[in-house]
Amino acid sequence: MSERGIFNSKIGYILAASASAVGLGNIWRFPTEAATHGGGTFLVVYILIVIFFGFILNMTEATIGRMTRKSAIDAYESINPKSRIIGILGTWVPVIILPYYCVIGGWITGYMFGPVVGADLADPTLFGDFISLPATALLAVVFLMVVAVIIYMGVTKGVERISVVFMPIFIILLIVLTVYVLMQPGMADGLNYYLFFDWSKLNMDTFVSALGQAFFSLSIAMGIMITYGSYMKKEENVSRSTVQIAVIDTVIAIIAGLLIVPLAHVITNGTMEGGAGLVFIVLPQVFTNMAGGPIVEVVFFIMLFIAAITSAISIMEAITSTMIDRFHMSRHKAVCVLMVPMVIACALVSLGYGPLDFVTVAGMNILDTMDFISNNILMPIVAFMTCMFIGHFLGSKKILDEIGYSDDHVMRKIYPVMMKYICPVMVFIIFIGGLKLI
Ligand code: PHE
Repeated sequence: MSERGIFNSKIGYILAASASAVGLGNIWRFPTEAATHGGGTFLVVYILIVIFFGFILNMTEATIGRMTRKSAIDAYESINPKSRIIGILGTWVPVIILPYYCVIGGWITGYMFGPVVGADLADPTLFGDFISLPATALLAVVFLMVVAVIIYMGVTKGVERISVVFMPIFIILLIVLTVYVLMQPGMADGLNYYLFFDWSKLNMDTFVSALGQAFFSLSIAMGIMITYGSYMKKEENVSRSTVQIAVIDTVIAIIAGLLIVPLAHVITNGTMEGGAGLVFIVLPQVFTNMAGGPIVEVVFFIMLFIAAITSAISIMEAITSTMIDRFHMSRHKAVCVLMVPMVIACALVSLGYGPLDFVTVAGMNILDTMDFISNNILMPIVAFMTCMFIGHFLGSKKILDEIGYSDDHVMRKIYPVMMKYICPVMVFIIFIGGLKLI
């Protein structure tokens, strides 16, 4: 008999799922996307997409998990053996993401301790030099081990407990840091840049990037919500919990924008560039010039560390849970077995910035290649198949009944149309957008 975990409290599920959703995507991806796609205009488009698309898909996955009490592969298989392929593809996503997420987690860990050991984070050459050091592979492995210990402790004592403690700390740090930063001189311009409504940006490009962002941020199509849903108690309300998770994720992304955009604006003069360069190079330069710079730096990287580790926990939990279900292993054995390929993969991805930098696919290094395969190819395919399967084969009624909507609930009308037609079209747009075909 396999050991299935359970989230003991309602808040445990909500915080664990939010902790998965709130990650680097909220802190370094959302603010950049918003700032470069018409600020307030992007926010409006994004919120509409979360309500009509992200919410529906996120809730569907959690419901599949709660209905079957299984992780992705077994969940789909138990509904219909032919749909097993959706679970298999969906499980490959966390397997691919985990190593590179840990590599980024390792960089964050290094930067968190950097000021403590006297490193000058504001030196623009530091980041490039740092990530090319083979020793950073060790940091990635340390990060992976911390995640593994939490997963080893189990759903209730590990995942749930850590989320319940870390999420409030994260939110407090984010708010304190944002208020402090906004009190600094010269932030008004950047704030304006972030929150203005540039209606001329209401175009296809903004729509595609908001869709992609919502998709990534809500941890859709990677088996995570199915796994977490399977730990949810039957009496809990999936629909309400999903609304709460989507609200938490979106509000945190918007606050992160208030923190990041004005800061980046000061130094880049409006040429907002996102990604690792923003977090590891641009922001430390602004922090240095502030009163209490080193403290701000450390607090910022602690916050980032929490965001990264709680997302990594959900990624590893989805894989572990699948191993427990499929191979009838104990949790402890599953974690130990998983560590072997993951340590090797972390090292390879990390060395891709140093001794292995000659390994490229279409000009992308190992990390970017894995990111591309999981985010731009596998995730849209899994989400598309999910919509098609539920909308056209299984029938929406099964999902709606499991959620517990009353017969006259408005979702009874909206949901089937979304699953059959609108969501697949939106996912298809993300797919061709992600392949840079539009
Ligand atoms: N949703 C997370 C974010 O916004 C990213 C993530 C990816 C989480 C994969 C879990 C799994 O950063």
